[in-house]
Amino acid sequence: MMNIIYKGKVKTIYESDNSYEVLIDHEDKICAGNGKKQDIIVGKGLVNSQISAILFEQLNDVGVKTHYLKMAGVNLMRCHFVDMLPLEVVIRNFVAGSLAKETHLRKGIHLNYPLIDFYLKDDELGDPLLTEDRMRNMGYSDILIGLLRKRVLEINLVLTSIFDSIGLHLIDLKLEFGRTIRDATLVLADELSPDNMRLWSQETHESKDKDLYRKDQGGVFEAYSEVLNKLTVLVEERKAVVVESSTSSDPLPVDISEFDVPEPKMEEPSPESSLVSSE
Ligand code: C5P
Repeated sequence: MMNIIYKGKVKTIYESDNSYEVLIDHEDKICAGNGKKQDIIVGKGLVNSQISAILFEQLNDVGVKTHYLKMAGVNLMRCHFVDMLPLEVVIRNFVAGSLAKETHLRKGIHLNYPLIDFYLKDDELGDPLLTEDRMRNMGYSDILIGLLRKRVLEINLVLTSIFDSIGLHLIDLKLEFGRTIRDATLVLADELSPDNMRLWSQETHESKDKDLYRKDQGGVFEAYSEVLNKLTVLVEERKAVVVESSTSSDPLPVDISEFDVPEPKMEEPSPESSLVSSE
């Protein structure tokens, strides 16, 4: 029996045989409205863990630091043990969701520049939107805020390009960061799945994400599986291109130089943090 470190709404984090690493189990539960609505979708945990693994591997491959190490079972992921920042960072490429509800921006409009919103991760307070001034007063330095913005933009660039290749618009996504217990490196943590991003078909504009569940439209498992199948095919194709280019003089299809971000030394006191993600 593995010891539980933390039980979140849809994920459980277990101790592993290495004190610097954890095992994350993705469950079949789906939640919306801060846990007010809950259901089980059989097979969703497996599909989400596979989607997350593919996307984390793609990010690791181009030099974006993440908590992901490898899959350790069908729903189980081996990751760095991290001290989570109590933040949800949302990056938006198109207007949807709360941005459409809370502003006069019309749903579906493509934003000229990706918009980054920081939220305080606190269920009781309803995950309020933060301003950078509030963050500075909470102990976040300008350096850390700048680094988070840069990381989020890089991740968005990589993921937008991946989803573009499979005919999907990455409308928006929520990211969570933490520092590794081993050496305090800032890494992307949590998960990368249709539970925490909006994906619309470029052809039909249909949702392939949790909005199907939020709006009771059904077809959640089918949509998530479609995303996984398309990603799997893309990754196989890319592997074939890499093998081909390694035997020829053609350059690799990804230029990693733009992701080469020096990590500033964190001298300021760390903001209050929790041990692990609670998604
Ligand atoms: O609700 P809102 O429109 O601000 O959500 C923006 C993005 O962040 C969506 O992709 C949504 O699924 C994701 N999100 C999340 N967890 C939250 C809030 C938003 O994954 N607690």
